[in-house]
Amino acid sequence: MTTLETRIEKWFDQIGELSPASDEARRDVELAITKLDDGQIRVAEVIDGDVVVHEWVRQAILLLFRVRGLERSEVGPFEYLDKLDLKHDYERRGVRVVPGASARRGSFLSRGVILMPSYVNIGAWVGENSMVDTWATVGSCAQIGANVHLAGGVGIGGVLEPANAVPVVIEDDAFIGSRCMVVEGARVGRGAVLGAGTILNPSIPVIDASTGEEISRGYVPDYSVAVSASRRREFAGGEFFLPCVLVLRRLAEGERHDKVALNNLLREHGVAT
Ligand SMILES: CC(C)(COP(=O)(O)OP(=O)(O)OC[C@H]1O[C@@H](n2cnc3c(N)ncnc32)[C@H](O)[C@@H]1OP(=O)(O)O)[C@@H](O)C(=O)NCCC(=O)NCCS
Repeated sequence: MTTLETRIEKWFDQIGELSPASDEARRDVELAITKLDDGQIRVAEVIDGDVVVHEWVRQAILLLFRVRGLERSEVGPFEYLDKLDLKHDYERRGVRVVPGASARRGSFLSRGVILMPSYVNIGAWVGENSMVDTWATVGSCAQIGANVHLAGGVGIGGVLEPANAVPVVIEDDAFIGSRCMVVEGARVGRGAVLGAGTILNPSIPVIDASTGEEISRGYVPDYSVAVSASRRREFAGGEFFLPCVLVLRRLAEGERHDKVALNNLLREHGVAT
């Protein structure tokens, strides 16, 4: 008996020949997307400290675009034309969704998640009790932990291609300040605080303010309080300043930064958990 994983891999090898008329492939792909939607499978996860990508799940998402045709939908005066569905059944899932928010089917929203008017793309995972604040976007396949706050306007980048690209990972209890951009497989550790307006990608150096040492590129360690800063760089054309991320200090394990605690009232759900 073949598993869903091996069948998806087989369909992916022949993706160029598939179309919305490919019923057998479509059945397998839809099954994989339903499992993704319910959190039974996921695109990536942190195992023993490393980000492990389940490539076949991402392949299923790419196949979905191939085996689905465009469909028109309407909400009042608005018209849309797309291949993918939106997520449904929020009450059963224990997720609060404010008007203006949309999440695509095939994203997973855990119990206690709150979506302010924001966007969550397919393949993304959002952990328990996390808040996706107004105009924040969670890109395809991004992995957001539990009790995370993505503040207003945060942009979490998505990755569907190229193959083997690593999704953005935000670990449990992290706080991502307003208008931060975290993209291309960058990672923010557990309980870390990223100051408003920080840009983090795998080529941005993360520097420890207490030593001046570069800790990493694109990875903010657990319980760091980090802000956007700049570093001097010499070029043939002169001296310029490029962005970096500066770790101002470290919180104790399990400690919450007092400035970024969310009012409990805002988190109250009103949905039985
Ligand atoms: C990161 C943050 C928590 C730091 O708070 P803190 O630990 O109390 O640090 P301070 O306010 O003492 O600031 C430390 C230094 O970093 C600088 N700084 C603070 N926030 C900064 C930011 N976002 N970007 C760049 N520098 C920043 C300060 O100017 C200060 O410099 P100084 O030492 O020369 O005075 C806070 O500034 C922040 O950005 N909070 C997020 C706000 C937000 O997005 N809210 C969302 C509401 S929905």
